[in-house]
Amino acid sequence: MTPDGTRAARDILTFYVENGADAVIGEVPVDRFADPADSPATPVAPRPVRETQAREPARAAPPAQAAPPAPDEAVMAARQAAKTAASLEELRAILDRFEGCGLRATAKQLVFADGNPKARVMFVGEAPGKEEDLEGLPFIGPSGQLLNLMLAAIGLDRTKVYIANIIPWRPPGNRDPSTHETQTCLPFIQRHIELVDPDILVCLGKPSMGALLGITDGIKRARGKWVSYSTGTRDIRGMAVFHPAYLLRNPIEKRMAWRDMLAVKKALANSA
Ligand code: URA
Repeated sequence: MTPDGTRAARDILTFYVENGADAVIGEVPVDRFADPADSPATPVAPRPVRETQAREPARAAPPAQAAPPAPDEAVMAARQAAKTAASLEELRAILDRFEGCGLRATAKQLVFADGNPKARVMFVGEAPGKEEDLEGLPFIGPSGQLLNLMLAAIGLDRTKVYIANIIPWRPPGNRDPSTHETQTCLPFIQRHIELVDPDILVCLGKPSMGALLGITDGIKRARGKWVSYSTGTRDIRGMAVFHPAYLLRNPIEKRMAWRDMLAVKKALANSA
């Protein structure tokens, strides 16, 4: 197997394990799309029941759950629910109860936000990773460590900024969130920003930039440029910068990120 193939196989296995799979049930792959007429006439002998399975008492069937809402309903439900949040505490509670996004089922917990809710600058990333999922706080893994250094470079820390993500649940195996997941979570982060009411919004990476600032250009072209962002109650300044995870992979770009952070510092000083 090629190194890429090995990595892909390991990622898939990690995904299954993280989602609770703890046993394989067949050694031969089954093509479920194959035409039954083409199947071999000889039936495959059933595999013996594993010893552990034979000893375990039958588990009770899980309680029936309501079917998840159809996609558009989920987005509508998110919009309705987000509107009703009068405070950050209410928004957190609403998100905790919200069942319209399937990521909630595979994540360990909600990753709501970190930092100072009275901060004048808010940073928004894409979605939590493994460490964030375990701790319930955004940006505490390797890219969070780099974000801390970026903040420190302009005299900020988590007591002076507020940090959240577009998606508040970890996608399994750190896969990219789907467009529908992003659209479903968008009303919540928009309301989140409105409630925090910062003077400056910094989008960390392209997905956050696309979802919040509506910019579809590549991040290399669009980063570092101020645009107007409407919170719903007022217009504030918004900018996209490279995501710290990208900077970890492309350290040469740190000089651009440094430039952008200086622009954030200057904007904060000018709007004080
Ligand atoms: N990447 C993100 O976009 N958000 C986090 O919270 C962590 C990593």
